[in-house]
Amino acid sequence: MSARILQGKEFAAKIKESARTEVEELKKNFGVTPGLAVIIVGENPASQVYVRNKHKTCEELGIISEVVAMPETTTKDELLARIDALNADKNIHGILVQLPLPDAIKAHSEEILNRINPLKDVDGFHPENVGKLVIGSPALVPCTPAGCIEMLDLAGIEIDGKRAVIIGRSNIVGKPLLHLLMARHATVTVCHTHTKNLAEVAREGEILVAASGKPNLVTGDMIRPGATVIDVGINRIAPKKLVGDVDFEAAKEIAGAITPVPGGVGLLTVAMLMKNVVKAARLQLEA
Ligand code: GUN
Repeated sequence: MSARILQGKEFAAKIKESARTEVEELKKNFGVTPGLAVIIVGENPASQVYVRNKHKTCEELGIISEVVAMPETTTKDELLARIDALNADKNIHGILVQLPLPDAIKAHSEEILNRINPLKDVDGFHPENVGKLVIGSPALVPCTPAGCIEMLDLAGIEIDGKRAVIIGRSNIVGKPLLHLLMARHATVTVCHTHTKNLAEVAREGEILVAASGKPNLVTGDMIRPGATVIDVGINRIAPKKLVGDVDFEAAKEIAGAITPVPGGVGLLTVAMLMKNVVKAARLQLEA
Protein backbone atom coordinates (compact mmCIF):
# COMPACT_ATOMS: atom_id res chain seq x y z
CA MET A 1 0.00 0.00 0.00
CA SER A 2 1.23 3.44 -0.84
CA ALA A 3 1.88 5.99 1.92
CA ARG A 4 -0.21 9.03 2.72
CA ILE A 5 1.57 11.96 1.08
CA LEU A 6 1.83 14.93 3.45
CA GLN A 7 1.55 17.95 1.14
CA GLY A 8 3.26 20.99 2.61
CA LYS A 9 1.03 23.44 0.81
CA GLU A 10 -2.11 22.42 2.69
CA PHE A 11 -0.45 22.61 6.08
CA ALA A 12 1.41 25.85 5.32
CA ALA A 13 -1.88 27.46 4.27
CA LYS A 14 -3.44 26.57 7.63
CA ILE A 15 -0.49 27.98 9.59
CA LYS A 16 -0.45 31.18 7.53
CA GLU A 17 -4.19 31.62 8.04
CA SER A 18 -3.74 31.37 11.78
CA ALA A 19 -0.81 33.84 11.64
CA ARG A 20 -2.97 36.26 9.64
CA THR A 21 -5.67 36.13 12.33
CA GLU A 22 -3.07 36.80 15.03
CA VAL A 23 -1.67 39.76 13.06
CA GLU A 24 -5.16 41.24 12.86
CA GLU A 25 -5.70 40.75 16.60
CA LEU A 26 -2.42 42.47 17.45
CA LYS A 27 -3.41 45.40 15.25
CA LYS A 28 -6.89 45.65 16.70
CA ASN A 29 -6.13 45.08 20.36
CA PHE A 30 -2.72 46.75 20.73
CA GLY A 31 -2.27 48.94 17.65
CA VAL A 32 0.85 46.93 16.80
CA THR A 33 1.71 45.78 13.28
CA PRO A 34 4.38 43.06 13.48
CA GLY A 35 7.52 43.87 11.48
CA LEU A 36 10.29 41.62 10.15
CA ALA A 37 13.72 42.72 8.92
CA VAL A 38 15.67 40.23 6.83
CA ILE A 39 19.34 41.05 6.26
CA ILE A 40 20.94 39.53 3.18
CA VAL A 41 24.65 40.07 2.57
CA GLY A 42 25.97 39.43 -0.95
CA GLU A 43 24.20 37.80 -3.87
CA ASN A 44 23.84 34.08 -3.18
CA PRO A 45 21.06 33.13 -5.64
CA ALA A 46 19.41 30.54 -3.37
CA SER A 47 19.38 33.04 -0.49
CA GLN A 48 17.82 35.66 -2.76
CA VAL A 49 14.97 33.27 -3.58
CA TYR A 50 14.40 32.47 0.12
CA VAL A 51 14.44 36.16 1.09
CA ARG A 52 11.98 37.11 -1.67
CA ASN A 53 9.70 34.36 -0.50
CA LYS A 54 9.81 35.60 3.10
CA HIS A 55 9.08 39.16 1.95
CA LYS A 56 6.13 38.03 -0.18
CA THR A 57 4.64 35.96 2.63
CA CYS A 58 4.89 38.91 5.05
CA GLU A 59 2.99 41.07 2.59
CA GLU A 60 0.27 38.42 2.19
CA LEU A 61 -0.29 38.34 5.95
CA GLY A 62 -0.12 42.07 6.71
CA ILE A 63 3.31 41.89 8.37
CA ILE A 64 5.70 44.80 7.70
CA SER A 65 8.72 43.48 5.81
CA GLU A 66 12.03 45.25 5.45
CA VAL A 67 14.68 43.58 3.28
CA VAL A 68 18.12 44.94 4.11
CA ALA A 69 20.39 44.05 1.17
CA MET A 70 24.06 44.65 1.96
CA PRO A 71 26.97 44.26 -0.48
CA GLU A 72 29.30 41.23 -0.57
CA THR A 73 32.08 43.48 0.76
CA THR A 74 30.21 44.32 4.01
CA THR A 75 32.49 44.11 7.06
CA LYS A 76 31.60 42.44 10.33
CA ASP A 77 31.41 45.82 12.07
CA GLU A 78 29.09 47.26 9.42
CA LEU A 79 26.79 44.28 9.82
CA LEU A 80 26.87 44.51 13.63
CA ALA A 81 25.99 48.23 13.41
CA ARG A 82 23.02 47.39 11.21
CA ILE A 83 21.81 44.78 13.70
CA ASP A 84 22.18 47.31 16.54
CA ALA A 85 20.01 49.79 14.63
CA LEU A 86 17.32 47.13 14.04
CA ASN A 87 17.49 46.04 17.69
CA ALA A 88 16.66 49.65 18.62
CA ASP A 89 13.89 50.04 16.00
CA LYS A 90 10.47 49.82 17.71
CA ASN A 91 8.71 48.97 14.43
CA ILE A 92 10.83 45.86 13.86
CA HIS A 93 9.91 42.85 16.01
CA GLY A 94 11.86 40.14 14.18
CA ILE A 95 15.40 40.17 12.78
CA LEU A 96 16.82 37.42 10.60
CA VAL A 97 20.30 37.32 9.07
CA GLN A 98 20.08 35.07 6.02
CA LEU A 99 22.75 32.36 6.03
CA PRO A 100 25.26 31.51 4.69
CA LEU A 101 27.21 34.75 5.09
CA PRO A 102 29.90 35.55 2.48
CA ASP A 103 33.26 33.77 2.97
CA ALA A 104 35.01 36.94 4.17
CA ILE A 105 32.81 37.20 7.30
CA LYS A 106 31.54 33.63 7.63
CA ALA A 107 33.94 32.91 10.50
CA HIS A 108 32.11 35.59 12.53
CA SER A 109 28.62 34.10 12.00
CA GLU A 110 28.22 33.20 15.66
CA GLU A 111 29.19 36.66 16.95
CA ILE A 112 26.87 38.25 14.37
CA LEU A 113 23.85 36.09 15.23
CA ASN A 114 24.46 36.57 18.96
CA ARG A 115 24.15 40.34 18.49
CA ILE A 116 20.41 40.03 17.70
CA ASN A 117 18.21 40.88 20.69
CA PRO A 118 16.93 37.43 21.83
CA LEU A 119 13.37 38.82 21.88
CA LYS A 120 13.72 39.62 18.16
CA ASP A 121 15.57 36.41 17.23
CA VAL A 122 12.91 34.86 14.99
CA ASP A 123 15.38 32.18 13.80
CA GLY A 124 15.72 30.96 17.40
CA PHE A 125 19.52 30.69 16.97
CA HIS A 126 20.59 32.92 19.90
CA PRO A 127 22.17 30.94 22.78
CA GLU A 128 19.55 32.35 25.16
CA ASN A 129 16.75 30.89 23.04
CA VAL A 130 18.64 27.63 22.52
CA GLY A 131 19.09 27.38 26.30
CA LYS A 132 15.39 28.01 26.92
CA LEU A 133 14.49 25.28 24.45
CA VAL A 134 16.78 22.80 26.22
CA ILE A 135 15.37 23.54 29.70
CA GLY A 136 11.81 23.41 28.42
CA SER A 137 10.76 27.07 28.56
CA PRO A 138 10.88 27.78 24.86
CA ALA A 139 10.46 31.29 23.54
CA LEU A 140 11.47 31.57 19.88
CA VAL A 141 12.16 28.17 18.32
CA PRO A 142 13.94 27.52 14.97
CA CYS A 143 11.39 27.49 12.15
CA THR A 144 12.22 24.26 10.31
CA PRO A 145 12.08 21.90 13.31
CA ALA A 146 9.02 23.77 14.62
CA GLY A 147 7.46 23.11 11.19
CA CYS A 148 8.13 19.36 11.56
CA ILE A 149 6.21 19.29 14.86
CA GLU A 150 3.40 21.42 13.46
CA MET A 151 3.08 19.10 10.46
CA LEU A 152 2.77 16.02 12.69
CA ASP A 153 0.14 17.79 14.81
CA LEU A 154 -1.89 19.03 11.85
CA ALA A 155 -1.71 15.59 10.22
CA GLY A 156 -3.03 14.03 13.44
CA ILE A 157 0.08 11.89 13.94
CA GLU A 158 0.69 11.18 17.63
CA ILE A 159 4.16 11.99 19.01
CA ASP A 160 3.73 10.98 22.68
CA GLY A 161 5.45 7.67 23.46
CA LYS A 162 6.70 7.16 19.89
CA ARG A 163 10.19 6.10 18.86
CA ALA A 164 11.61 8.98 16.82
CA VAL A 165 14.88 8.85 14.89
CA ILE A 166 16.54 11.99 13.52
CA ILE A 167 19.32 11.68 10.94
CA GLY A 168 21.50 14.79 11.24
CA ARG A 169 22.72 16.81 14.23
CA SER A 170 22.84 20.38 12.92
CA ASN A 171 22.16 23.39 15.13
CA ILE A 172 19.38 24.46 12.74
CA VAL A 173 17.41 21.19 12.52
CA GLY A 174 18.66 18.04 14.28
CA LYS A 175 19.52 19.43 17.71
CA PRO A 176 16.45 21.66 18.20
CA LEU A 177 14.17 18.93 16.86
CA LEU A 178 15.59 16.48 19.42
CA HIS A 179 14.42 18.82 22.19
CA LEU A 180 11.06 19.56 20.62
CA LEU A 181 10.27 15.85 20.17
CA MET A 182 11.54 15.00 23.65
CA ALA A 183 9.37 17.76 25.15
CA ARG A 184 6.43 16.05 23.44
CA HIS A 185 7.37 12.75 25.11
CA ALA A 186 8.88 10.90 22.17
CA THR A 187 11.88 8.62 22.72
CA VAL A 188 14.45 10.16 20.44
CA THR A 189 17.65 8.91 18.81
CA VAL A 190 19.91 11.27 16.87
CA CYS A 191 22.09 9.69 14.17
CA HIS A 192 25.02 11.36 12.42
CA THR A 193 28.07 10.66 10.26
CA HIS A 194 29.71 8.46 12.90
CA THR A 195 26.62 6.35 13.64
CA LYS A 196 27.22 2.62 13.18
CA ASN A 197 24.51 0.49 11.57
CA LEU A 198 22.52 3.53 10.46
CA ALA A 199 19.92 1.42 8.62
CA GLU A 200 19.23 -0.66 11.70
CA VAL A 201 18.83 2.40 13.94
CA ALA A 202 16.70 4.25 11.37
CA ARG A 203 14.36 1.24 11.14
CA GLU A 204 13.49 1.69 14.81
CA GLY A 205 11.84 5.00 14.05
CA GLU A 206 8.06 5.22 14.05
CA ILE A 207 8.83 8.81 13.16
CA LEU A 208 11.91 9.17 10.96
CA VAL A 209 13.27 12.63 10.18
CA ALA A 210 15.97 12.95 7.53
CA ALA A 211 18.03 16.12 7.90
CA SER A 212 21.46 15.10 6.66
CA GLY A 213 21.80 17.10 3.45
CA LYS A 214 22.72 13.96 1.50
CA PRO A 215 20.54 13.07 -1.49
CA ASN A 216 18.94 9.64 -1.27
CA LEU A 217 20.74 8.71 1.95
CA VAL A 218 17.55 7.11 3.27
CA THR A 219 16.72 4.03 1.23
CA GLY A 220 13.64 1.84 1.50
CA ASP A 221 15.34 -0.76 3.71
CA MET A 222 15.95 1.93 6.36
CA ILE A 223 12.26 2.57 6.91
CA ARG A 224 10.06 0.78 9.39
CA PRO A 225 6.84 -0.33 7.68
CA GLY A 226 4.11 2.19 8.43
CA ALA A 227 6.52 4.86 9.76
CA THR A 228 6.00 8.58 9.28
CA VAL A 229 8.92 9.90 7.22
CA ILE A 230 9.71 13.63 7.25
CA ASP A 231 12.27 14.68 4.68
CA VAL A 232 13.93 17.98 5.58
CA GLY A 233 16.63 17.69 2.89
CA ILE A 234 16.80 20.14 0.01
CA ASN A 235 19.54 18.98 -2.37
CA ARG A 236 20.02 20.49 -5.81
CA ILE A 237 21.33 17.61 -7.95
CA ALA A 238 20.93 19.43 -11.29
CA PRO A 239 20.15 23.06 -12.20
CA LYS A 240 16.42 22.40 -12.08
CA LYS A 241 16.22 19.25 -9.97
CA LEU A 242 15.69 19.33 -6.20
CA VAL A 243 15.61 16.13 -4.17
CA GLY A 244 15.40 15.39 -0.45
CA ASP A 245 17.46 13.01 1.69
CA VAL A 246 14.99 10.17 1.15
CA ASP A 247 14.59 7.89 -1.87
CA PHE A 248 10.94 8.94 -2.17
CA GLU A 249 9.79 6.36 -4.73
CA ALA A 250 11.03 3.42 -2.65
CA ALA A 251 10.06 4.97 0.68
CA LYS A 252 6.46 5.68 -0.22
CA GLU A 253 5.80 1.96 -0.70
CA ILE A 254 6.92 1.23 2.88
CA ALA A 255 6.11 4.31 4.96
CA GLY A 256 2.67 5.07 6.39
CA ALA A 257 3.02 8.79 5.66
CA ILE A 258 5.76 10.76 3.92
CA THR A 259 6.61 14.32 2.96
CA PRO A 260 7.70 14.97 -0.66
CA VAL A 261 10.59 17.23 -1.77
CA PRO A 262 9.93 19.78 -3.09
CA GLY A 263 6.47 20.61 -1.71
CA GLY A 264 6.85 19.05 1.71
CA VAL A 265 7.89 20.30 5.12
CA GLY A 266 10.07 23.05 3.57
CA LEU A 267 6.93 25.06 2.84
CA LEU A 268 6.16 25.13 6.56
CA THR A 269 9.44 26.88 7.40
CA VAL A 270 8.34 30.28 6.09
CA ALA A 271 4.88 29.83 7.62
CA MET A 272 6.48 29.14 11.02
CA LEU A 273 8.70 32.21 10.57
CA MET A 274 5.53 34.29 10.28
CA LYS A 275 4.25 32.73 13.51
CA ASN A 276 7.57 33.59 15.17
CA VAL A 277 7.33 37.23 14.06
CA VAL A 278 3.88 37.44 15.69
CA LYS A 279 5.20 35.71 18.80
CA ALA A 280 8.17 38.09 18.95
CA ALA A 281 5.81 41.09 18.73
CA ARG A 282 3.82 39.66 21.66
CA LEU A 283 6.96 38.98 23.73
CA GLN A 284 8.03 42.59 23.18
CA LEU A 285 4.62 43.86 24.29
CA GLU A 286 5.02 41.92 27.52
CA ALA A 287 8.64 42.98 28.11
N1 GUN B 1 19.53 29.71 5.32
C1 GUN B 1 18.99 28.48 5.13
N2 GUN B 1 18.12 28.20 6.13
C2 GUN B 1 18.11 29.25 6.96
C3 GUN B 1 17.41 29.55 8.16
O1 GUN B 1 16.61 28.77 8.69
N3 GUN B 1 17.68 30.76 8.71
C4 GUN B 1 18.56 31.63 8.18
N4 GUN B 1 18.75 32.79 8.80
N5 GUN B 1 19.22 31.39 7.06
C5 GUN B 1 19.00 30.21 6.46
